[in-house]
Amino acid sequence: MSGFFFSSQLLLYACIQALHNLGAVAIVGGGAAAFLLARRPSGVQKVLVWVITLGWISQGVTGILFGATSYFYDGRLPDIHGIALAALFLKMACAAIGIILGVVYLRFERGWSRTTLRRILGLDFGLGITALTAAAFLRWFS
Ligand code: HEM
Repeated sequence: MSGFFFSSQLLLYACIQALHNLGAVAIVGGGAAAFLLARRPSGVQKVLVWVITLGWISQGVTGILFGATSYFYDGRLPDIHGIALAALFLKMACAAIGIILGVVYLRFERGWSRTTLRRILGLDFGLGITALTAAAFLRWFS
């Protein structure tokens, strides 16, 4: 019977995690597609860069929501250190750079050469792979 009950905190974590996972898919899936289609007309990549950039923003927001939920229910942030903390900082750095890169791309891409566009798309994809890899370390070292 008790198996039917759940805490609101766990429900909240699961909902935030669902959004966080979708954001990761947008970044890495969109990043792979944008990089592979870098030689296609720029409208295709522009849509994908929107998807990726909204993904980065969503990761930042849901990441903050994870922390806010812990703080609200437990009165403190999770006690992580060492590799887990380094992985979290790495994800936050990737998200910050990813957001800046996306905004700059969407604003200025028209003046850039094909090579520059491809390099930026490759960098964005690389950031996504780095953040997703860091997520595994955060998960298992915290
Ligand atoms: C501001 C940036 C970010 C913050 C603050 C953040 C925070 C978190 C937190 C607190 C968790 C739960 C950790 C746990 O289960 O112990 C988590 C899980 C996760 N994050 Fe992030 N994250 C951020 C960015 C990202 C990015 C950019 C990606 C991927 C591109 C990502 C992918 C994931 C994945 C896949 C998980 C689930 C890991 C698992 O349970 O196996 N995160 N994140």
